[in-house]
Amino acid sequence: MAEETDYAIKVEKLSKRYGNLLAVNDISFTVDKGEVFALLGPNGAGKTTTVEIIDTIRTPTSGKVTLLGMDVTKKKHDIVRRIGVLPQGFTSFDRITVRETLQYYSRLYRGRNTDIDGLIELVDLKDKAKEQYKNLSGGLRQRLGIALALVNDPEVVFLDEPTTGLDPRARREVWDVLLGLKKKGKTVFLTTHYMEEAELLADIVAIISKGKIIAMGSPAELIESNTTYLVLTLQSVDEKVFEIIRKMGFEPVLDNHREIKIRVEHTDDVQKILSAIKDAGAMYHGLDVGKPNLEEVFLKLTGEALHGGPAGERGAE
Ligand SMILES: Nc1ncnc2c1ncn2[C@@H]1O[C@H](COP(=O)(O)OP(=O)(O)OP(=O)(O)O)[C@@H](O)[C@H]1O
Ligand SMILES: [Mg+2]
Repeated sequence: MAEETDYAIKVEKLSKRYGNLLAVNDISFTVDKGEVFALLGPNGAGKTTTVEIIDTIRTPTSGKVTLLGMDVTKKKHDIVRRIGVLPQGFTSFDRITVRETLQYYSRLYRGRNTDIDGLIELVDLKDKAKEQYKNLSGGLRQRLGIALALVNDPEVVFLDEPTTGLDPRARREVWDVLLGLKKKGKTVFLTTHYMEEAELLADIVAIISKGKIIAMGSPAELIESNTTYLVLTLQSVDEKVFEIIRKMGFEPVLDNHREIKIRVEHTDDVQKILSAIKDAGAMYHGLDVGKPNLEEVFLKLTGEALHGGPAGERGAE
């Protein structure tokens, strides 16, 4: 029998090896019931490996994972009836409609009375219920995938990169659906490489890099404990601005679309930088001073960018 626990998921010293590669390296954490937990990390960090060990698809090399009080390696059958999964890169049958797909999946869980209309409503697909899968856009497909993960009214939902590859608008529509799940008090285990997504949705974020969890906490805690500086962003800068700032001893980072980000300790530094640009007769067309975000935390901890994150895509919006 499953033992009653306050936590939905407990991962203890989990490792996974593929040949010579230690894809997941001794990670531990717990996820409380009703919590949205995000595993945030770049490509190849070990997110899918971790999720798929917890949701019983892959087997661990070492360590222990308890889900709803059950050992994932011993109670697969009992566990899968109580969880929902949106796998990374989810696809469905081309010629089957949204409603038929949901009906089909719900029949797989005999004995459950799935409220198909309720699910269609939840993921905002009412107008598309009779549409075949092949005619759905990426965002609509992902929303169908989320509905499918919910057909058995699961206690824990796993969503592996639910918004990767979507345009910013479709991504926000998926976020709305996920915020709805959060409101309902579902336990959600999410993976993402979009720090905005983790910041918006997650109660707790674990940052994973090369198989290791390098920081964990609420988004606010992570930012508070890992950064002391402010970030000055200058938009549409002249080419020479970068060099002016670098010569002052700062380390400017050039984003696409001629945007420069500079870490500064004090607001005085902002004044100094702006004066130097003005004195050199150079131009910028927008300016923002703000607290660092999770992207900055990741950069600081790993020295790397979260590849494919929104920083690089914002310009395309
Ligand atoms: N079945 C497998 N056999 C061998 N190596 C694997 C296997 N699955 C994953 N890997 C490797 O393990 C590492 C972690 O992969 P994983 O898919 O867990 O990362 P991820 O964080 O989900 O990446 P992405 O953001 O690209 O989905 C990668 O180097 C990957 O190539
Ligand atoms: Mg993955």
